[in-house]
Amino acid sequence: MAVLENTILVNGKSIEVNHIQYDITLLDWLRNYNKLTGTKEGCAEGDCGACSVIIEENGSGNLRPINSCLVRLGQVMGGSITTIEGLGSNKNPHPLQIAFTNKYASQCGYCTPGFIMSGVSLLNSNKKITDDSINDAISGNLCRCTGYSPIIKAIKSAAKYRITQNNKQSIKKNKNITIGNVTYLKPSNLKELKNYLDDIKNFEFLAGGTDLNLQRPIINQKEDKLICLGSIVELNKITHLKEKIVFGGGVTIESFLEAIRPKMPELVEILQRFGSPQIRNQGTIGGNLCTSSPIGDIAPILLVLNSDLGIFGRNGFKKINIKNFFRGYRKNVLKKDEIISSVEIPYANPKNKLFSWKLSKRYDQDISTVSLAINIQTQKNVIKELHIAAGGVAATPKLLNKLSELMVEKKLDEAIKFAIDNVEKHIQPISDLRGSRHYRLEAIKGLFRRLQICLMQNKNSLSIMDF
Ligand code: FES
Ligand code: FES
Repeated sequence: MAVLENTILVNGKSIEVNHIQYDITLLDWLRNYNKLTGTKEGCAEGDCGACSVIIEENGSGNLRPINSCLVRLGQVMGGSITTIEGLGSNKNPHPLQIAFTNKYASQCGYCTPGFIMSGVSLLNSNKKITDDSINDAISGNLCRCTGYSPIIKAIKSAAKYRITQNNKQSIKKNKNITIGNVTYLKPSNLKELKNYLDDIKNFEFLAGGTDLNLQRPIINQKEDKLICLGSIVELNKITHLKEKIVFGGGVTIESFLEAIRPKMPELVEILQRFGSPQIRNQGTIGGNLCTSSPIGDIAPILLVLNSDLGIFGRNGFKKINIKNFFRGYRKNVLKKDEIISSVEIPYANPKNKLFSWKLSKRYDQDISTVSLAINIQTQKNVIKELHIAAGGVAATPKLLNKLSELMVEKKLDEAIKFAIDNVEKHIQPISDLRGSRHYRLEAIKGLFRRLQICLMQNKNSLSIMDF
């Protein structure tokens, strides 16, 4: 049976979406319209994981956890959602729910449905069940009374289980749909996108929505048009070439991470710390760059790898180097009708070492206070090639070309001392809630010391967790 265009499959049951006056989140729809109140609201902004549900798109069998508080209903029309109620009941609980009871992994229980959804997503994936994979799977879930140790034990004890999908129905990908006051336009390729751009004047682009959907209230009184980029086939492609990987701008951070893992494992930690699996499954590379935040996690890496960006708009394609993309605080060169259609990332020279570090208040699921990416080649302890980029130290992510040039051909100790003594001339950090100017300067100096230790001890990385 095909799922109709104006329906969402919830726990195997097709539910029609109607009588909705204003655009709402998936979370509000589940709780307020369908009384599926097992899915909880904690923070309503992607931080606590209490609202986690599992989504399967396009009948792919790929079950991904997402934060239902960060997804608009229009984004998941025609999709298949599993909530905690779809996993088990009082009479017939899911094995992971039994494990949570047996291992005392729940006290007040408010966070528990979210943890179960994250745990089940991991158990259903092809990842090995290890401390690391469990820690990553629950990195977007907060528990404030039980403590994490019993939760980890519960997930480990249920490692042999996989959920059986209760969805045997094919999913019909819907096209445009109006929900309340918002019309979702869903082009399926760039040609269709161009047609919309030619015809429509007032619209906003919507990719994963992990930033845009944070705007509150999501209920907007005015008539809106959103052009959703998620179904555009060209934007979801990953192409491995001899000297580079080309990502469509709509590739999620999670797919980006998995594609880059075998080629540039040095980048895995920072990409995992980009956000929880729920966020990584929604957020996209193009979206992250388009927000043009000075603390975006991806930009410093792309800057030191000299990446190119494909840009698509009403006037067709063009390509620019990422160093010409940012234009000021949260500003970039894109016109209103342009998107990032591709991100071309050259592989680092095999003689070079790549480092990428992020300092934040919380290890997982937090935004950077500062970050530093380095692409370096040394010979006999002398720096031969160096590219440095930093986040959180200026109005835009910043390539520190001048400083890098001055460090080349210096011995490592001398160059690091030079960087520490002179970095202040090359960056302009500000003081804000996350850190003072002084803290940021000292933190960057600390990262240069970390670089020195890594190179002297021949370490590929040195995580804050190694200290
Ligand atoms: Fe906290 Fe959604 S309610 S992540
Ligand atoms: Fe109370 Fe986790 S059991 S917050």
